Amino acid sequence: MKMRELRSILVTGGCGFIGSNFIRLLLNDGAFTGTVVNADKLTYAGNPLNLSGIDELYPGRYTFYRADICDHETMTGIFEKHRIDTVVHFAAESHVDRSISGPHEFVRTNINGTFTLIETARRCWEGKDGVLFHHVSTDEVYGSAAEGEEFSETTGYDPHSPYSASKAASDHLVRAYGHTYGLPVTISNCSNNYGPYQFPEKLIPLMILNMVEGKRLPVYGDGKNVRDWLFVDDHAEAIRLILRKGAAGETYNIGGGSVVSNIDLVRLLCERTALKTGEKRGVYEGLIQFVTDRPGHDRRYAVNSEKIKTSIGWTPTVSLEQGLDGTISWYLDNVDWVRGVQTGEYRSWIEKNYGDRDR
Ligand code: NAD
Ligand code: TYD
Repeated sequence: MKMRELRSILVTGGCGFIGSNFIRLLLNDGAFTGTVVNADKLTYAGNPLNLSGIDELYPGRYTFYRADICDHETMTGIFEKHRIDTVVHFAAESHVDRSISGPHEFVRTNINGTFTLIETARRCWEGKDGVLFHHVSTDEVYGSAAEGEEFSETTGYDPHSPYSASKAASDHLVRAYGHTYGLPVTISNCSNNYGPYQFPEKLIPLMILNMVEGKRLPVYGDGKNVRDWLFVDDHAEAIRLILRKGAAGETYNIGGGSVVSNIDLVRLLCERTALKTGEKRGVYEGLIQFVTDRPGHDRRYAVNSEKIKTSIGWTPTVSLEQGLDGTISWYLDNVDWVRGVQTGEYRSWIEKNYGDRDR
């Protein structure tokens, strides 16, 4: 199989959870000698501290812009200045609950932003070979899976939340640019990620932090909604392989293969966290509280990853227990990061350091 050479990569949303883990993994890959440009608007979810020390570790190979993907002029400037030949597009509004209470930003960034970015790529890459636009998307575009069903790349789209609808729209746009303009594009639709640096509004970090703070563990509805959990490093590695070996025009589903109900996952988290803190497991379980369900809550997600396994050779390497143990330890050990995010302290640091830079 012919491997693509990676030279100048634009990562959007690189200060978020998955983007920052991806940048670290990529720069740590000895086979990659190119450069990374990170363009991130630094919304509430973007935190440059997720990549602190990266410039010193990889001198001259990492550049950061505080930039909005909806800003065509700035995006064009970045493409031209850095001769971008590969895009990995993570930037998005990513939390379903926020999309229900405030869908506007989801339409703006996820749909209009993706349009602006891919249109910039099309214009800047006219006549160029060896380029690739990789779009990072979600399994939620497929809707809810029936018992025993797994989403494959040919499953029909049936998004249910403003978040998943906005991601579905962006997937369609990216695919249309591939068909209409011949732009080399790839798309990945992955399941629920977890791991270090995840903003603690998402289930796993929220539960860990609530446990150690003695707060209630809010489980939506009857807790029997099912998710397919993917450790973030396994996801980052899948994307790295798609950049090198993926075929233009193809979509790849990426699932962790750990398909569990929310209540079983929360109970497992109680058990594993108690092992680390020395607390009695029952104490954490006693904090579980069933709360009003999320409107339109998808019942079940499960992903079939056969295509990426057979065509690209990816396979998840981290079991749910291993991944949860590492994640729990990370949140317990990184109290400064947690405090900064919880108090919003890091926001004033961001405004001081990046307030009017690069925008
Ligand atoms: P995140 O919310 O942690 O990070 C998103 C990043 O995008 C932030 O750094 C934010 O500042 C940046 N951003 C937002 N709007 C922007 C804009 N207009 N211009 C530039 N930057 C902007 O999200 P995440 O969990 O890391 O998810 C990354 C991608 O993966 C998203 O596209 C998401 O839809 C997809 N995804 C995530 C999951 C998951 O479980 N987290 C699962 C499937 C797919
Ligand atoms: P979440 O981490 O928000 O991811 P997504 O909605 O993209 O799947 O939620 C994961 C699951 O956990 C989902 O079924 C909703 C549920 N959930 C709770 O039960 N309680 C919570 O406090 C949160 C944030 C999520």
